[in-house]
Amino acid sequence: MAARQKNQVKIEGRPVWAEVSASALTHNLRGIRDFVNPAEEKRKTPRKVLSIVKGNGYGHGGPQVAKILEKAGSDWFGVTCTNEGIDVRKAGIREPILVLTGFWPGEEASLLKHDLTAVVHRCEQLEPLDRAAAKRSPRKVVSFHLKIDTGMNRLGIATSDVECFARQLARCKHLRLSGVMTHFASSEAFAPAAQGQQTREQEERFFGALDRLRKLGIDTGIVHMANSAAIAARPESWGDMVRPGVILYGYHPGYDPAEQRAESERRLPLKPVMSLRTRIISLRRVPAGSGVGYGAKFIPQRASLIGVLAAGYGDGIHRSLSNGGGSVLVRGKLVPIVGIVSMDVTMIDVTDVDGAEIGDVVTIYGTDGEHAHPANGVARAIGTVTSDLLCAVAARVPRVYVA
Ligand SMILES: Cc1ncc(COP(=O)(O)O)c(C=O)c1O
Repeated sequence: MAARQKNQVKIEGRPVWAEVSASALTHNLRGIRDFVNPAEEKRKTPRKVLSIVKGNGYGHGGPQVAKILEKAGSDWFGVTCTNEGIDVRKAGIREPILVLTGFWPGEEASLLKHDLTAVVHRCEQLEPLDRAAAKRSPRKVVSFHLKIDTGMNRLGIATSDVECFARQLARCKHLRLSGVMTHFASSEAFAPAAQGQQTREQEERFFGALDRLRKLGIDTGIVHMANSAAIAARPESWGDMVRPGVILYGYHPGYDPAEQRAESERRLPLKPVMSLRTRIISLRRVPAGSGVGYGAKFIPQRASLIGVLAAGYGDGIHRSLSNGGGSVLVRGKLVPIVGIVSMDVTMIDVTDVDGAEIGDVVTIYGTDGEHAHPANGVARAIGTVTSDLLCAVAARVPRVYVA
């Protein structure tokens, strides 16, 4: 029996599921932790890892992957908002959870109640957070992290506002700054013609802002800035803690130049965590010249055997994979998606697959035994990033956690 059939998980109902490998996730976390703590560096305390589990854990199930990662030794977790943080906390996570996009007015009490650590990215957020902290526990102080905008022009206080921040913080008796962060706009870009210099400039602005905070007598706490590409290729940015997202889930980001990827994959080998699978639910012989699917966009040149999959764009098979835009793995063979991907079903051409039959497991991306169809290749083919593809796996697709 093929490995593909031996390892099948049991799914009830409509056969579409996302298999999430705990061992691959653990392997990636441990690999990252070892990589950012090289033996020769001799730091007093090991550099921490904050696992990014926002966006429902990049589609893998936020609370569930947080549980696996906590067991594997993750020091911190990163979510985008209070509600995501509450879900992760309610799953039983004890380690600190950083709310990366900060809090919305009115959420302060709930944030503190669930012991979530806020990121303050505007000075005006200090006062309401301080008030909520005073109300919750007048004798205790609440920790928060500060985000500094060093050139991405998205979230964070301007570097020119450091002194103003310090003055306002001095008035907040119930708050304690326990970390300072920034976020890179293009850490994967190394080609000088592209944004090759931008990360260097961001780093310099960030280090300058940290110096100014320290000169003002402020303890900056945990300093962190590195996302996946910076972790893999910019050791000077590792600070006290790193924030891996997509590399945790098994994929290096798209580097510029592209050759950087092979080098990063060699230095930091990763295992894909998710395999998105479905089954063939119908097979039909279609004569040459007869259109397949919506708009008859696929007209076979030869008599063809067309398999219908129980998954469509309503499950996370990107519609731009339609009609030759993408392929899937069946019985160890890559075969093309033909016709337009519909909401609930997708057609594939299995004419050249020996023994294809109804019920065959099909891997939309991920691994199948010794065969691989990596999600980053699928993402590249349709001009998007791996994280976009992984996050697109719909809520109706059950996540199945396997060892
Ligand atoms: C603040 C912050 N840090 C880290 C990450 C992780 O990014 P990546 O998936 O590139 O590692 C993200 C994701 O967008 C983020 O918003």
